[in-house]
Amino acid sequence: MIQKYHTCKMENKFEDYHIPVLYSETLETLVLNPDGVYVDCTLGGGGHSEGILKKLSEKGVLISIDQDDAAIEYAKKRLEGYKNWKVFKSNFENLEKVIYMAGYDKVDGILMDIGVSSNQLDDPERGFSYRYEARLDMRMNNSSGISAYEIVNTYDEGSISKILFEYGEERFARKISRIICQTRSEKPIETTGDLVTIIKRAYPGRSEKHPAKKTFQALRIEVNKELEVLENAINKSIDLLKVGGRLSVITFHSLEDRIVKTMFKNFSTGCICPPRLPICICNHKPTIRLITKKPITPSKEELEINNRSRSSKLRVVEKV
Ligand SMILES: C[S@@+](CC[C@H](N)C(=O)[O-])C[C@H]1O[C@@H](n2cnc3c(N)ncnc32)[C@H](O)[C@@H]1O
Repeated sequence: MIQKYHTCKMENKFEDYHIPVLYSETLETLVLNPDGVYVDCTLGGGGHSEGILKKLSEKGVLISIDQDDAAIEYAKKRLEGYKNWKVFKSNFENLEKVIYMAGYDKVDGILMDIGVSSNQLDDPERGFSYRYEARLDMRMNNSSGISAYEIVNTYDEGSISKILFEYGEERFARKISRIICQTRSEKPIETTGDLVTIIKRAYPGRSEKHPAKKTFQALRIEVNKELEVLENAINKSIDLLKVGGRLSVITFHSLEDRIVKTMFKNFSTGCICPPRLPICICNHKPTIRLITKKPITPSKEELEINNRSRSSKLRVVEKV
Protein backbone atom coordinates (compact mmCIF):
# COMPACT_ATOMS: atom_id res chain seq x y z
CA MET A 1 0.00 0.00 0.00
CA ILE A 2 1.52 3.29 -1.04
CA GLN A 3 1.34 6.00 1.57
CA LYS A 4 0.07 9.17 -0.09
CA TYR A 5 2.76 11.47 1.22
CA HIS A 6 4.81 13.96 -0.68
CA THR A 7 7.34 16.55 0.29
CA CYS A 8 6.09 20.04 0.81
CA LYS A 9 7.76 23.23 -0.27
CA MET A 10 7.66 24.62 3.26
CA GLU A 11 9.30 21.54 4.80
CA ASN A 12 12.47 21.47 2.75
CA LYS A 13 14.55 24.52 1.95
CA PHE A 14 16.02 22.73 -1.08
CA GLU A 15 12.71 22.45 -2.90
CA ASP A 16 12.93 25.91 -4.37
CA TYR A 17 14.93 24.23 -7.17
CA HIS A 18 12.43 21.50 -8.04
CA ILE A 19 9.68 19.72 -6.09
CA PRO A 20 10.06 15.98 -6.70
CA VAL A 21 6.88 14.46 -8.13
CA LEU A 22 5.27 11.20 -7.00
CA TYR A 23 7.88 11.22 -4.25
CA SER A 24 6.67 8.57 -1.81
CA GLU A 25 5.11 6.47 -4.56
CA THR A 26 8.51 6.33 -6.30
CA LEU A 27 10.51 5.52 -3.18
CA GLU A 28 8.15 2.84 -1.94
CA THR A 29 8.05 0.96 -5.22
CA LEU A 30 11.76 1.35 -6.07
CA VAL A 31 13.91 0.99 -2.96
CA LEU A 32 13.37 -2.54 -1.65
CA ASN A 33 16.91 -3.35 -0.52
CA PRO A 34 18.50 -0.88 1.94
CA ASP A 35 21.93 -2.41 1.24
CA GLY A 36 21.50 -2.23 -2.53
CA VAL A 37 23.02 -0.17 -5.33
CA TYR A 38 20.65 2.35 -6.92
CA VAL A 39 20.92 4.76 -9.85
CA ASP A 40 19.06 8.06 -10.14
CA CYS A 41 19.48 8.93 -13.82
CA THR A 42 17.96 12.39 -13.42
CA LEU A 43 19.40 14.03 -10.32
CA GLY A 44 17.88 17.50 -10.88
CA GLY A 45 17.55 19.24 -7.51
CA GLY A 46 18.33 15.97 -5.73
CA GLY A 47 14.88 15.45 -4.16
CA HIS A 48 14.43 11.83 -5.23
CA SER A 49 18.13 11.15 -4.69
CA GLU A 50 17.87 12.38 -1.11
CA GLY A 51 14.78 10.23 -0.56
CA ILE A 52 16.65 7.15 -1.84
CA LEU A 53 19.68 7.90 0.35
CA LYS A 54 17.43 8.21 3.40
CA LYS A 55 16.11 4.71 2.74
CA LEU A 56 19.56 3.17 2.30
CA SER A 57 21.79 1.72 5.02
CA GLU A 58 25.48 2.64 5.20
CA LYS A 59 26.15 -0.35 2.94
CA GLY A 60 23.74 0.87 0.25
CA VAL A 61 25.02 3.11 -2.55
CA LEU A 62 23.35 5.72 -4.74
CA ILE A 63 24.81 6.76 -8.08
CA SER A 64 23.23 9.97 -9.43
CA ILE A 65 23.56 11.27 -12.97
CA ASP A 66 22.71 14.59 -14.60
CA GLN A 67 23.95 16.30 -17.73
CA ASP A 68 23.37 19.78 -16.34
CA ASP A 69 26.23 21.43 -14.41
CA ALA A 70 23.82 23.65 -12.48
CA ALA A 71 21.87 20.62 -11.20
CA ILE A 72 25.03 18.84 -10.10
CA GLU A 73 26.41 21.90 -8.34
CA TYR A 74 23.13 22.45 -6.51
CA ALA A 75 22.66 18.81 -5.49
CA LYS A 76 26.25 18.57 -4.25
CA LYS A 77 25.40 21.18 -1.61
CA ARG A 78 22.23 19.32 -0.67
CA LEU A 79 23.75 15.84 -0.46
CA GLU A 80 27.35 16.53 0.59
CA GLY A 81 26.83 14.77 3.95
CA TYR A 82 26.13 11.36 2.38
CA LYS A 83 29.25 9.19 2.13
CA ASN A 84 27.48 6.53 0.07
CA TRP A 85 26.55 8.95 -2.72
CA LYS A 86 28.40 9.15 -6.04
CA VAL A 87 27.57 11.73 -8.68
CA PHE A 88 28.48 11.82 -12.38
CA LYS A 89 27.97 14.42 -15.07
CA SER A 90 26.79 12.45 -18.08
CA ASN A 91 23.89 11.78 -20.37
CA PHE A 92 22.00 8.88 -18.79
CA GLU A 93 22.10 7.20 -22.17
CA ASN A 94 25.61 6.21 -21.01
CA LEU A 95 24.40 4.69 -17.77
CA GLU A 96 26.26 1.40 -18.27
CA LYS A 97 29.56 3.34 -18.43
CA VAL A 98 28.68 5.39 -15.36
CA ILE A 99 27.78 2.25 -13.39
CA TYR A 100 31.06 0.65 -14.48
CA MET A 101 33.04 3.74 -13.49
CA ALA A 102 31.34 3.72 -10.10
CA GLY A 103 32.64 0.15 -9.64
CA TYR A 104 29.53 -1.96 -10.25
CA ASP A 105 28.09 -4.09 -13.02
CA LYS A 106 24.50 -4.82 -11.90
CA VAL A 107 22.24 -2.69 -9.74
CA ASP A 108 19.12 -3.05 -7.57
CA GLY A 109 17.14 -0.14 -8.93
CA ILE A 110 17.12 2.60 -11.56
CA LEU A 111 15.03 5.78 -11.59
CA MET A 112 14.36 8.09 -14.54
CA ASP A 113 12.34 11.24 -13.86
CA ILE A 114 12.29 12.46 -17.42
CA GLY A 115 12.29 16.00 -18.74
CA VAL A 116 13.38 19.36 -17.41
CA SER A 117 13.48 20.53 -13.81
CA SER A 118 11.52 23.55 -12.59
CA ASN A 119 14.83 25.33 -12.20
CA GLN A 120 15.74 24.80 -15.85
CA LEU A 121 12.26 25.83 -16.94
CA ASP A 122 12.23 28.94 -14.78
CA ASP A 123 15.77 30.07 -15.55
CA PRO A 124 15.16 32.86 -18.08
CA GLU A 125 18.64 32.38 -19.56
CA ARG A 126 18.14 28.74 -20.59
CA GLY A 127 15.47 29.51 -23.19
CA PHE A 128 13.20 26.58 -22.24
CA SER A 129 10.15 28.68 -21.52
CA TYR A 130 7.91 30.73 -23.77
CA ARG A 131 7.16 32.87 -20.73
CA TYR A 132 10.60 34.49 -20.55
CA GLU A 133 12.56 36.41 -23.13
CA ALA A 134 15.86 34.58 -23.77
CA ARG A 135 18.17 33.47 -26.56
CA LEU A 136 16.76 30.29 -28.13
CA ASP A 137 18.78 27.50 -26.51
CA MET A 138 16.97 24.63 -24.65
CA ARG A 139 20.07 22.47 -24.18
CA MET A 140 20.06 20.59 -20.88
CA ASN A 141 23.79 20.10 -21.30
CA ASN A 142 24.76 23.57 -22.39
CA SER A 143 28.29 22.59 -23.35
CA SER A 144 27.29 20.21 -26.15
CA GLY A 145 24.98 19.59 -29.07
CA ILE A 146 22.88 21.90 -31.19
CA SER A 147 20.52 24.43 -29.67
CA ALA A 148 16.98 25.48 -30.60
CA TYR A 149 18.54 28.48 -32.37
CA GLU A 150 20.24 26.21 -34.95
CA ILE A 151 17.08 24.19 -35.52
CA VAL A 152 14.87 27.20 -36.05
CA ASN A 153 17.39 29.05 -38.20
CA THR A 154 18.95 26.24 -40.27
CA TYR A 155 16.63 23.21 -40.59
CA ASP A 156 14.54 23.14 -43.77
CA GLU A 157 10.81 23.89 -43.64
CA GLY A 158 9.75 20.24 -43.97
CA SER A 159 12.03 19.11 -41.14
CA ILE A 160 10.80 21.81 -38.77
CA SER A 161 7.21 20.97 -39.60
CA LYS A 162 7.86 17.25 -38.96
CA ILE A 163 9.46 17.98 -35.58
CA LEU A 164 6.56 20.20 -34.50
CA PHE A 165 4.00 17.65 -35.64
CA GLU A 166 5.68 14.53 -34.27
CA TYR A 167 7.12 15.83 -31.01
CA GLY A 168 4.57 18.54 -30.24
CA GLU A 169 1.47 17.05 -31.89
CA GLU A 170 1.04 20.63 -33.16
CA ARG A 171 -1.91 20.98 -35.57
CA PHE A 172 -0.48 24.15 -37.11
CA ALA A 173 2.99 22.67 -37.63
CA ARG A 174 3.10 23.43 -41.36
CA LYS A 175 1.92 26.99 -40.99
CA ILE A 176 4.32 27.73 -38.12
CA SER A 177 7.29 26.31 -40.00
CA ARG A 178 6.34 28.26 -43.11
CA ILE A 179 6.27 31.54 -41.16
CA ILE A 180 9.55 30.58 -39.40
CA CYS A 181 11.25 30.16 -42.79
CA GLN A 182 9.77 33.37 -44.22
CA THR A 183 10.83 35.37 -41.16
CA ARG A 184 14.38 34.03 -40.99
CA SER A 185 14.98 34.85 -44.68
CA GLU A 186 14.95 38.49 -43.58
CA LYS A 187 16.79 38.14 -40.27
CA PRO A 188 17.65 35.31 -37.85
CA ILE A 189 15.11 34.33 -35.18
CA GLU A 190 17.13 35.09 -32.07
CA THR A 191 14.92 34.82 -29.02
CA THR A 192 12.05 32.93 -27.42
CA GLY A 193 10.00 36.12 -27.82
CA ASP A 194 10.68 36.24 -31.60
CA LEU A 195 9.48 32.64 -31.89
CA VAL A 196 6.36 33.23 -29.77
CA THR A 197 5.41 36.14 -32.05
CA ILE A 198 5.71 33.87 -35.10
CA ILE A 199 3.64 31.11 -33.49
CA LYS A 200 0.93 33.59 -32.54
CA ARG A 201 0.74 34.72 -36.17
CA ALA A 202 0.13 31.11 -37.24
CA TYR A 203 -2.60 30.49 -34.67
CA PRO A 204 -6.15 31.40 -35.65
CA GLY A 205 -8.08 33.08 -32.82
CA ARG A 206 -7.62 32.35 -29.14
CA SER A 207 -6.57 28.95 -27.84
CA GLU A 208 -7.16 27.46 -24.39
CA LYS A 209 -3.48 26.64 -23.83
CA HIS A 210 -0.60 28.93 -24.68
CA PRO A 211 -0.11 28.64 -28.46
CA ALA A 212 3.67 28.21 -28.03
CA LYS A 213 3.43 25.26 -25.61
CA LYS A 214 3.56 22.49 -28.22
CA THR A 215 6.24 24.09 -30.38
CA PHE A 216 8.51 24.63 -27.37
CA GLN A 217 7.99 21.04 -26.22
CA ALA A 218 8.81 19.75 -29.71
CA LEU A 219 11.99 21.81 -30.04
CA ARG A 220 13.18 20.77 -26.58
CA ILE A 221 12.68 17.10 -27.44
CA GLU A 222 14.63 17.51 -30.69
CA VAL A 223 17.45 19.54 -29.10
CA ASN A 224 18.01 16.99 -26.34
CA LYS A 225 17.13 13.90 -28.42
CA GLU A 226 14.86 13.00 -25.52
CA LEU A 227 12.90 10.15 -27.06
CA GLU A 228 15.89 8.29 -28.53
CA VAL A 229 17.76 8.67 -25.24
CA LEU A 230 14.80 7.32 -23.29
CA GLU A 231 14.48 4.27 -25.53
CA ASN A 232 18.20 3.47 -25.43
CA ALA A 233 18.36 3.94 -21.68
CA ILE A 234 15.38 1.64 -21.01
CA ASN A 235 16.96 -1.07 -23.19
CA LYS A 236 20.23 -0.79 -21.29
CA SER A 237 18.58 -0.56 -17.86
CA ILE A 238 16.91 -3.93 -18.18
CA ASP A 239 20.30 -5.58 -18.81
CA LEU A 240 21.85 -3.69 -15.91
CA LEU A 241 19.32 -4.78 -13.26
CA LYS A 242 19.85 -7.72 -10.93
CA VAL A 243 17.02 -10.23 -10.83
CA GLY A 244 14.39 -8.65 -8.56
CA GLY A 245 15.79 -5.18 -9.32
CA ARG A 246 13.39 -2.45 -10.39
CA LEU A 247 13.19 0.24 -13.05
CA SER A 248 10.92 3.23 -12.38
CA VAL A 249 10.17 5.80 -15.04
CA ILE A 250 8.27 9.05 -14.50
CA THR A 251 7.05 10.74 -17.68
CA PHE A 252 5.32 14.06 -18.32
CA HIS A 253 3.71 13.75 -21.71
CA SER A 254 2.00 11.18 -23.86
CA LEU A 255 4.90 10.64 -26.31
CA GLU A 256 7.24 9.59 -23.52
CA ASP A 257 4.60 7.53 -21.73
CA ARG A 258 3.75 5.69 -24.94
CA ILE A 259 7.38 4.66 -25.37
CA VAL A 260 7.65 3.44 -21.78
CA LYS A 261 4.33 1.60 -21.89
CA THR A 262 5.12 -0.13 -25.20
CA MET A 263 8.64 -1.12 -24.21
CA PHE A 264 7.50 -2.46 -20.84
CA LYS A 265 4.72 -4.43 -22.55
CA ASN A 266 7.16 -5.97 -25.06
CA PHE A 267 9.75 -6.88 -22.44
CA SER A 268 7.12 -8.42 -20.15
CA THR A 269 5.55 -10.56 -22.88
CA GLY A 270 6.44 -14.21 -23.43
CA CYS A 271 5.64 -15.78 -26.79
CA ILE A 272 5.28 -13.29 -29.65
CA CYS A 273 4.51 -15.85 -32.38
CA PRO A 274 1.53 -15.06 -34.63
CA PRO A 275 -1.61 -16.56 -33.00
CA ARG A 276 -2.19 -18.86 -36.02
CA LEU A 277 0.94 -20.93 -35.21
CA PRO A 278 0.06 -24.11 -33.30
CA ILE A 279 3.33 -24.11 -31.30
CA CYS A 280 5.76 -21.45 -30.17
CA ILE A 281 8.81 -21.04 -32.38
CA CYS A 282 9.98 -17.63 -31.18
CA ASN A 283 11.24 -18.69 -27.74
CA HIS A 284 10.71 -15.12 -26.63
CA LYS A 285 10.91 -14.96 -22.83
CA PRO A 286 9.78 -12.08 -20.62
CA THR A 287 12.70 -10.25 -19.01
CA ILE A 288 10.58 -8.11 -16.68
CA ARG A 289 7.24 -8.20 -14.91
CA LEU A 290 4.95 -5.21 -14.61
CA ILE A 291 4.62 -3.87 -11.07
CA THR A 292 2.23 -1.12 -12.16
CA LYS A 293 -0.35 -2.44 -14.62
CA LYS A 294 -1.65 1.13 -14.88
CA PRO A 295 0.58 4.15 -14.28
CA ILE A 296 0.60 5.78 -10.85
CA THR A 297 -0.55 9.41 -11.04
CA PRO A 298 -0.41 12.23 -8.46
CA SER A 299 -2.85 12.32 -5.54
CA LYS A 300 -5.26 15.22 -5.03
CA GLU A 301 -3.05 16.47 -2.19
CA GLU A 302 0.04 16.49 -4.41
CA LEU A 303 -1.81 18.36 -7.16
CA GLU A 304 -2.86 21.01 -4.67
CA ILE A 305 0.74 21.67 -3.67
CA ASN A 306 2.47 21.14 -7.01
CA ASN A 307 0.45 21.86 -10.10
CA ARG A 308 3.46 20.93 -12.28
CA SER A 309 2.98 17.30 -11.26
CA ARG A 310 -0.40 17.17 -13.05
CA SER A 311 0.70 15.24 -16.13
CA SER A 312 3.20 12.94 -14.38
CA LYS A 313 2.90 9.16 -14.67
CA LEU A 314 5.01 6.56 -12.90
CA ARG A 315 5.51 3.07 -14.33
CA VAL A 316 7.54 0.41 -12.51
CA VAL A 317 8.86 -2.98 -13.65
CA GLU A 318 10.92 -5.71 -12.01
CA LYS A 319 13.61 -7.85 -13.62
CA VAL A 320 12.74 -11.57 -13.67
C1 LIG B 1 12.56 16.42 -13.82
S1 LIG B 1 14.19 16.79 -13.39
C2 LIG B 1 14.55 15.63 -12.12
C3 LIG B 1 14.18 16.11 -10.77
C4 LIG B 1 14.66 15.24 -9.65
N1 LIG B 1 14.05 13.94 -9.68
C5 LIG B 1 14.44 15.90 -8.31
O1 LIG B 1 13.93 15.25 -7.41
O2 LIG B 1 14.82 17.06 -8.16
C6 LIG B 1 15.08 16.11 -14.72
C7 LIG B 1 16.58 16.28 -14.62
O3 LIG B 1 17.14 15.29 -15.47
C8 LIG B 1 18.15 15.84 -16.24
N2 LIG B 1 18.16 15.11 -17.49
C9 LIG B 1 17.17 15.05 -18.41
N3 LIG B 1 17.54 14.27 -19.43
C10 LIG B 1 18.80 13.83 -19.15
C11 LIG B 1 19.70 12.97 -19.82
N4 LIG B 1 19.43 12.43 -20.99
N5 LIG B 1 20.89 12.71 -19.22
C12 LIG B 1 21.19 13.26 -18.01
N6 LIG B 1 20.38 14.09 -17.34
C13 LIG B 1 19.19 14.36 -17.90
C14 LIG B 1 17.81 17.29 -16.41
O4 LIG B 1 18.99 18.04 -16.62
C15 LIG B 1 17.11 17.60 -15.08
O5 LIG B 1 18.02 18.12 -14.14
